[in-house]
Amino acid sequence: MRRSPPLGGGFKSHSQYCAMYNNPGSTIGSFEQIAMLTDFKKHLDQLQLESVFRDLGVSDPTALARTVKHFTTKEGEKRDKIVLDYFGKGGIERIVDVVTEFLLEPPKLPENPKILDVGAGSGFFTVKVAKKVLLKCPKADFYALDLTPAMLLSLAKKKIQIAPFIGIAENIKGSIEHARSYCDIPLSFDAVFSTLMLHHSTEPERVFESIQKVLKANGKAMIVDMMEHSFKEFKAQMGDVHLGFKLESVYEMAQKHFPAVQIEKISGICCECLGRSAEIFAAVVRNRA
Ligand SMILES: C[S@@+](CC[C@H](N)C(=O)[O-])C[C@H]1O[C@@H](n2cnc3c(N)ncnc32)[C@H](O)[C@@H]1O
Repeated sequence: MRRSPPLGGGFKSHSQYCAMYNNPGSTIGSFEQIAMLTDFKKHLDQLQLESVFRDLGVSDPTALARTVKHFTTKEGEKRDKIVLDYFGKGGIERIVDVVTEFLLEPPKLPENPKILDVGAGSGFFTVKVAKKVLLKCPKADFYALDLTPAMLLSLAKKKIQIAPFIGIAENIKGSIEHARSYCDIPLSFDAVFSTLMLHHSTEPERVFESIQKVLKANGKAMIVDMMEHSFKEFKAQMGDVHLGFKLESVYEMAQKHFPAVQIEKISGICCECLGRSAEIFAAVVRNRA
């Protein structure tokens, strides 16, 4: 059952924030941004992260705690610069274009689509994608799920209407039900995307299953991640759980949950770290063949 908001006045719904600003679909004004950030911080102060993760049925709490620690201490506010170093401006533009084109291509989004970024981190890609999509689809609402508060705080400071909420990619539905105690997150989405999160999941197949459960019948999702590589040092340096993925194993995981799966290498770009270079793929999944 839906609980009423626990905070004084409550965390406003996404549409309330939009309504506070007279041009929905545009970046929000500083007052609304501060209100949203303040409410999010209050929510985080009250949140018992471990107990949330327990409620969400996390299979390996120790690994999850390691991931949160890595992104809190090594990334957080620094994430945007880190991504820029990994891909360079050209690589970033390419990823943003690939995700944006996917969102805008058929099947066409409805007039007021709900779009979710899973493992959004500091919102580096979320913001860039949202700005481009909003030009063509001004009533789109964006939401950002992540398990690391420090990453989402960094996103919430950005001047754009993206609703952040704490959760795990392996149980998005449960995460939403939990987050709805303070913010009006929809239970299903027209489109989902995720960039560079999958290789941090201890149960990547559950991520596909979890996305399927929150995707509308005519919805679509894109997962961008690293192709298999042999650079073990990425585990310590970047907190990676998997050394990328073989395209066949991504296909195998995805097709267990979706009737339509397409996977392609994104040509011409690589994630560069420690003098190593890992290639990137985009997996598109749909609920209808
Ligand atoms: C490499 S960062 C990518 C962030 C952002 N998508 C980007 O491309 O810049 C990975 C993010 O995924 C989050 N993350 C890792 N495992 C997760 C999980 N199981 N559920 C939700 N978020 C997760 C981390 O907290 C971190 O913010």
